[in-house]
Amino acid sequence: MEIRGSRILVIGGAGLIGSHVVEELLKEDIKEVVIYDNFCRGTHENIEEALKDPRCRLYEIGGDILQTDILNAAMKDADAVVHLAALWLLQCYEYPRAAFEVNIRGTFNVLEACRANRIKRLVYSSSASVYGDALEEPMTENHPYNNWTFYGATKIAGEHMFKAYHKRYGLEGVGLRYMNVYGPRQDYKGTYIAVMMKILDNLDRGLSPVVYGDGSQAYDFVYVSDVARANVCALKSEVPFGFYNIGRGIKTSIKELTELILKITDSDLPIKYEPAGQTFVTNRVGDVTAAEKDLAFRWQVNLEDGLRKLIAWRRSHLQDTTGVKIKILKKADEIPVAG
Ligand SMILES: NC(=O)c1ccc[n+]([C@@H]2O[C@H](COP(=O)([O-])OP(=O)(O)OC[C@H]3O[C@@H](n4cnc5c(N)ncnc54)[C@H](O)[C@@H]3O)[C@@H](O)[C@H]2O)c1
Repeated sequence: MEIRGSRILVIGGAGLIGSHVVEELLKEDIKEVVIYDNFCRGTHENIEEALKDPRCRLYEIGGDILQTDILNAAMKDADAVVHLAALWLLQCYEYPRAAFEVNIRGTFNVLEACRANRIKRLVYSSSASVYGDALEEPMTENHPYNNWTFYGATKIAGEHMFKAYHKRYGLEGVGLRYMNVYGPRQDYKGTYIAVMMKILDNLDRGLSPVVYGDGSQAYDFVYVSDVARANVCALKSEVPFGFYNIGRGIKTSIKELTELILKITDSDLPIKYEPAGQTFVTNRVGDVTAAEKDLAFRWQVNLEDGLRKLIAWRRSHLQDTTGVKIKILKKADEIPVAG
């Protein structure tokens, strides 16, 4: 689609990926970016810079995808929609009904509003979680739905509802199956923090980073601004419908990741190995050739550079906002990296 001069509604635009999508969109010659978010996880701080651009605004009447009349009103003048709002893996695990409401009913509401407002293109945030553990590597878009989590179930439901809406009503767009996204604005405190932040948290306290099991669990880590660019590529593409892996196609084990973080932070602390706990997915790497061919998307930030940016952001953030070290709450012994 031609995005020049268009108005884009970014649902979940105050979150980790969404706030970066907003910034990537503002690099384009577009008319307006409207952020729609209920701030259950996203923050005003994430979008503070973007809102300085006169082409960007927050939809102030409301921002919940469960409030259908408000959602519908927000879409009235939009040409395209990027839908990123969802509850995350662990929330879905603990609160499946809430996950059903937001991820499934909420996504259905978005689809309905898109149809009612004749939205030209929808980009839906799916997840590599639809695949579960890899049965074949790298995982192409035809990899079976080997998912066993409620989160993955909600993403599969979202994909299929979108597919049916494309077939029945001609709603065009794509679903993006992100691999493991990381980068600035990632949660570093609170209940749901990712493995990288746990490692950094330990290092800050002078403690060894803990690796569960033998550290051979491996994932495809992709930097957040690359993922944001993928969303813009997906908007710009002319592909009428499809699902695409968004990652780097490079597998990194938790042991390798930990060693890299130790190197970057110049730490000589030894890794502490502890018995494996609960893990949702232990092996994942995406085949990224289809996204490159159809969406003209290719990753740019390698893991070491991305980690350096994440660490610098986290450090400046901890100092700037608090001046004191933040006590990080721990929800589970082992925090899954799948998302
Ligand atoms: N981060 C990852 O590694 C990853 C991997 C695969 C897929 N995804 C998917 O990408 C999308 C964005 O992920 P993220 O990491 O930026 O998560 P995030 O939690 O930072 O962003 C989600 C945003 O949606 C908002 N939101 C939640 N419920 C809402 C509701 N009912 N109405 C309106 N807004 C609501 C939150 O406040 C938040 O700002 C999600 O759909 C997620 O499932 C993320």
